Amino acid sequence: MGVIEAAGEGSDALRPGQRVAFFPVPGSWSELVTVPAEFAVPVPAGVRDETAALMLVNPLTLLILMRAVEQAVAESAGGPVVQTAAGSTIGKLVSSAAKRHGLPLINLVRSDAGARALQDRFPDHPAISTADPGWRTQVREAAGNRGVPVVLDAVGGSLTRDLTSLMADGGTLIVYGMLGSGSTALESLALTPRELTVQGVSVSRWLSRTPGQRAEDVAFAASLAETDPDLFEVAGSYDLADYAAAIAHARRPGKTGTVLLASPAP
Ligand SMILES: NC(=O)c1ccc[n+]([C@@H]2O[C@H](COP(=O)([O-])OP(=O)(O)OC[C@H]3O[C@@H](n4cnc5c(N)ncnc54)[C@H](OP(=O)(O)O)[C@@H]3O)[C@@H](O)[C@H]2O)c1
Repeated sequence: MGVIEAAGEGSDALRPGQRVAFFPVPGSWSELVTVPAEFAVPVPAGVRDETAALMLVNPLTLLILMRAVEQAVAESAGGPVVQTAAGSTIGKLVSSAAKRHGLPLINLVRSDAGARALQDRFPDHPAISTADPGWRTQVREAAGNRGVPVVLDAVGGSLTRDLTSLMADGGTLIVYGMLGSGSTALESLALTPRELTVQGVSVSRWLSRTPGQRAEDVAFAASLAETDPDLFEVAGSYDLADYAAAIAHARRPGKTGTVLLASPAP
């Protein structure tokens, strides 16, 4: 997000001094950035700068993910959705949306402490730690001892094989991140005999929505920032010049929230 220094001709709704969130604009790790007027969204008065920094990218990612999940669920025989890295900022947005939409959800995280924290925050969704050797059994039990129709995955790597082993035949693995290490060969997943679908999803496709649909999505994002700022948690804020320390913080296991870069220094 930023404060407008100057607005070009034709951008009548925007004026110097106004706070705006913007997405998608590359090169935003800088003191000044040129933003197409159509991607600059005025920040509602009650929304803090820190929340505004996350106001577009995360909710828009959520919308893209939930549309993919709901389509995959509609094409399945039903059952809960499993999401990995569920303690992430995006994961918490998904948990919150699942509650709103009445979507059964099983949350997977990589630590016992993370599972406890998530279970406390979202008691409706079972939270399971992959650090527990019995996690696969726990997922099967939480799913009612049948295969899971949809997995929403930001980890990938060597976890992919385990995730597909938990899926129902005909299920869909929606991949939107690569936090994990290792790899899983596509050929090892029995995609054909089990009729599994692997689907990549990226917020970069958001621009393919019509201007009217994008306006609706942006209105949803701004209203979520106003009504539920706790979903836009900030782990720390660093001077732009300290980006290396900021990156180290972003990689720190167990951090909660998003690391921000600010200029001038926070
Ligand atoms: N496709 C898209 O368009 C799109 C858009 C936005 C974000 N993303 C992706 O969404 C994911 C989450 O982003 P975010 O900003 O919400 O993240 P975040 O708030 O920084 O949280 C990262 C989470 O990932 C977990 N994690 C890190 N490495 C892991 C591993 N090897 N195995 C399991 N869990 C691991 C961390 O768990 P601990 O608490 O245990 O440390 C933490 O909960 C990222 O992969 C990001 O690239 C994709």
